Amino acid sequence: MKFKVARRKIEKCKECGFCALICPSHDNCIGCGACVDACPYEARVLEEISERRKEIKIKVNHERYEVPGGITVLRALELIGFTTLPFKDEKGMWELSETEILAPCRTGGCWSCAVIINGNLKPSCVTPAEEGMEIITDKDAIEKKEPKRVVSGFQGHAVGGVGTPYWIKPRTLGLGFRFIEVACFSHGCILRCPTCQNWEITYSAVEEEPLSPVEAARLVSYERRRFGVDRMAISGGESTLNRRWLLEYLKELKRLNRDKKARLHVDTNAVVLTEDYIDALYLAGATDIGADVKGLELDTFAEITGIKDREFAKKLLNTEWKAIKYLGENYSDKMFVGIGIPYNEALVSLDEIYKIGERIAGWSPDVQVCALDYRPAFRRMDLKKPSYLDMLKVKEVLEGSGLRCVICQTEFGRIGP
Ligand code: FES
Repeated sequence: MKFKVARRKIEKCKECGFCALICPSHDNCIGCGACVDACPYEARVLEEISERRKEIKIKVNHERYEVPGGITVLRALELIGFTTLPFKDEKGMWELSETEILAPCRTGGCWSCAVIINGNLKPSCVTPAEEGMEIITDKDAIEKKEPKRVVSGFQGHAVGGVGTPYWIKPRTLGLGFRFIEVACFSHGCILRCPTCQNWEITYSAVEEEPLSPVEAARLVSYERRRFGVDRMAISGGESTLNRRWLLEYLKELKRLNRDKKARLHVDTNAVVLTEDYIDALYLAGATDIGADVKGLELDTFAEITGIKDREFAKKLLNTEWKAIKYLGENYSDKMFVGIGIPYNEALVSLDEIYKIGERIAGWSPDVQVCALDYRPAFRRMDLKKPSYLDMLKVKEVLEGSGLRCVICQTEFGRIGP
């Protein structure tokens, strides 16, 4: 039988040790691929090997099965007939059949793939299948458990994000320093951006304790009071991957912060943000939303996000743009909506930036648009950080496209209104 195992490319490895930190099964590779996605030097690869392995006995929904050892629970479920998918067509994104398991991050962060293993909720994508395991995939049984996901980095923030209104953001970095919001960061992402600006969070999960929505909301509320701010943000990784967790988190955060000043800010790449999900976020208590557009052309989106499968990339890009349109047309008067556009000349042309601006302006010319100066990060340390003048040019281009509220992030702080 064929199996996947992770191998190290010695010629690329810089022995940073990150792969060891995030490996869920040190003694015996289970082929989950978490280290492959996480390695900043692309020194880890999944290789297919053929070998005979001892079978192990497991029970799934009380039925007995035999599967090979040394694989993940998710792979075991695939072998006995389950379908695992990172994304479903937009309409069915959040409606799965009994034999479908959503697994968007596959690095143990989002817990969308969680099933009940020996009585406890566990992420199937990074949990090794073991002899005698009892696995329950029944959705009603899972619903009865408190959802969990990995969230960390609870702290004050002085700059805010794409969904932070410009009049709160500091103009100059370092001067007049003050915290404007508190934030936490959800681990795991569906994208594989080579320029990931937060990759240590995105790809690390295994060593962290997962939190329930109530636990996370309490921590954020505590930090709000400690830092003396009213804004509470959740970013990532990608915050929207585990829909149930995020909605329950927002409801609990709202319950704990009933005063009128409290602002609940969701920062997202919007690639799984369907219209009904946006409605649900609003009803759960979200007051501010920052959503990215990572390109207009499919090639640009694929380059920025690292999604190599064209059909998959197309679905994500479409969902992202539909979310931007829906937010602009239906929610600009109900929530604070900010849209982020990454910029680096190596990733997107000014001509495409203009077209992006033109499209957004066609729906909502007054929405806040924030151009982000994508710095060298993660796998793209070769990039040159856009200069202040580069970002000034981006601002001119976006304003020329019809947008009336453009801010740009630069090395010295923000420019714009
Ligand atoms: S898909 Fe398993 S934790 Fe995200």
